[in-house]
Amino acid sequence: MDKILIIGAGGQIGTELTGYLRTMYGEKNVIASDIRATLHPDLMDGGPFIRMDALDSRQVYQVIQKERVNQVYFLAAILSAVCEKNPEMAWDINMGSLNSVLRVANELKFRMFVPSSIGAFGATTPKKNTPQLTIQRPNSIYGVTKVAGELLCDYYNQKYGVDVRGVRFPGIISNVVPPGGGTTDYAVDIFHKAVKYQKFTCYLREDTFLDMMYMPDALKAAVTLMEADYNALRYHNAYNVAAMSFSPKMIAEEIRKHIPDFTIDYAVDPVRQGIADSWPDSMDDSAARKDWGWSPDYTLEAMTRDMIKVLTKRFSGRENHE
Ligand code: SER
Repeated sequence: MDKILIIGAGGQIGTELTGYLRTMYGEKNVIASDIRATLHPDLMDGGPFIRMDALDSRQVYQVIQKERVNQVYFLAAILSAVCEKNPEMAWDINMGSLNSVLRVANELKFRMFVPSSIGAFGATTPKKNTPQLTIQRPNSIYGVTKVAGELLCDYYNQKYGVDVRGVRFPGIISNVVPPGGGTTDYAVDIFHKAVKYQKFTCYLREDTFLDMMYMPDALKAAVTLMEADYNALRYHNAYNVAAMSFSPKMIAEEIRKHIPDFTIDYAVDPVRQGIADSWPDSMDDSAARKDWGWSPDYTLEAMTRDMIKVLTKRFSGRENHE
């Protein structure tokens, strides 16, 4: 029987992944953990929760051994814009926690999911149809930790046979817990502002194309890869996965089909614009499609329809209390 630990469960992806895995594997078999003591109520009430510091490899070892965990989803990380404000902390947390958990994986031999990102690419990477294997010279500290993380995972896999798998996620759009501190976050915030105020000020230029993905597809990607046949995985970690690519102008037009009065204006933040300009417009995910059957369900149109439906319902329920 599978026993799963999610590290960094309180974040944007972890909160929804925990519920998704509990539905699949049974609530008692999926342990949420985070350095924060209080998380989203769905997560705290829906099954076991352990407060844990991923930098503390002794504690990680003890929890995994005691609970007989055989799969770990490692989601502890600081996103790109916050990393840029404090590069030392970015390195210490993003690399330190990964290194700590990989060391334990080598001792206890559990399967591990480690997400990389479009942030692992840089200005010299081909921007369109970005290949699986290509130039990776990012100039953000977030990107530096992502490339180093990919290499460290490869190292543990090749040298010690640790079964560590991962994808390069695009920007993830979701409606439960906000991302916080990323460059792609505008594509989440735009929906909140469109539904609440019918207007949004964007910190990226209107023509900035980035890869994006709706949360249900991100969850499906992570779990499908973790369930895949080990021998079919040519790369193990850092698989490009893509779903949609759009610019702020395009998503605004799509939102306007549902909220005709919606307006967007622009106040460009040079830091996040610089990061976004160095990331791919659209990744080639053919290796993921071939090796483990990756295929997304949500287009820009379908995601927009769903986001607006969910948020309209949520905000109208709360209006009386605001
Ligand atoms: N969504 C992340 C960010 O913007 C990229 O992986 O930082």
